[in-house]
Amino acid sequence: MYKMIQTEVKAGVLIMSINRPDKLNALNIETFSEINDVMKKVYDDRSIKAVIITGSGQKAFVAGADISEFATFNSDQGKQLSANGHEVLYMIERCSKPVIAAVNGFALGGGCELAMACHIRVASENAKFGQPEVNLGVIPGYGGTQRLIQLIGKGKAIELLMTADMINAEEALKYGLVTHVVKQEELIDYCIKIAEKISLKSPVAIGKVIECVNAYFESGINGIAFEIDAFGQCCGTEDFKEGTSAFLEKRKAEFSGN
Ligand code: COA
Repeated sequence: MYKMIQTEVKAGVLIMSINRPDKLNALNIETFSEINDVMKKVYDDRSIKAVIITGSGQKAFVAGADISEFATFNSDQGKQLSANGHEVLYMIERCSKPVIAAVNGFALGGGCELAMACHIRVASENAKFGQPEVNLGVIPGYGGTQRLIQLIGKGKAIELLMTADMINAEEALKYGLVTHVVKQEELIDYCIKIAEKISLKSPVAIGKVIECVNAYFESGINGIAFEIDAFGQCCGTEDFKEGTSAFLEKRKAEFSGN
C-alpha cells in the first residue's frame, strides 16, 4: 500500500524499510509523508511495541534528501521542506515506544538525520555516516546541526558538518553516534533483540524515559523538575503497582501499559 517504504510487523516490532534502493533510499517528500503515516499508526496501535527503521538493499540506509527533488527550490520552498522534515522526525523522536535505526549502509545528510532522530542506532560494519550538505551549497535541514552536537559533542560535530567527511561504523561507535556495530546479516535480528528486551519493561515507564531525555534538550524546560513530575506520574500507574508487586512477590512483571 506504500510506494516508498515497506513495513512488516514481527511479534509487535514494526520494521519500516525505506524502499528506493536504486536511489540509495533518498528521502523525497512522498517518503516523508509515508513515514509520517506509519508513525501515526505506531502512536495509535497498542499492539506495536517498537519500531525499527532501515533501508532496502545492502548498500544504503538513506543517502540523503532527494537532491533531484529540491535542486530547483527557492528559499520559501526550502524552508517548507525543512519544516516538514522536522515535523516527521519529531514524530520519531517523541514516540513513546522505542525507535531503533538499523543503519545498513550509507547514512548521509537526511539519512544521518533520520538515524539521529531515532532513540537507538545500531550500524552494520559497512555503514558510513556524514553530513555532506555543504558540498551542495546548503546545510543539514532535518536537525543535523543540532542532533549531531547532542550525540557526539560540538568539536567533532562542527568538523564533520564543515568538512563533509564521511566516517565509518567503527568511528561512529567511537564518537557515540551509534551504540553497536554488527555484521550486516545480523543487523535486523540484533535490533529486534533490543526491541524485545525493551518491550518486556513497563511501556509507561519507557515513554516517560523518552520524554525526560528529550526534555533535557528542550529550551525553557527544567529537566529535573520534569523528571520529578514524570516520576510522580509513574507512581500513580498500574504498571508501577505491577512492577513493584512482582518484585516483592518474586515473580516476573506482566505490564499492561496503563
Ligand atoms: N538524492 C537523489 N539521488 C541520489 C542520492 C540523493 N541524495 N544519493 C544517491 N542518489 C542516486 C544517484 O543519483 C544514482 O542514481 P542514478 O543511478 O539514477 O544516476 C543512484 O542513487 C546511485 O548512486 P551513485 O552515486 O551512482 O552511487 P555511488 O556508489 O557511486 O555513490 C554515494 C554513493 C552515496 C557516495 C553518492 O550517491 C552520493 O554522494 N550521494 C549523495 C549524498 C548526499 O549528498 N546526501 C545529502 C543530500 S542533502
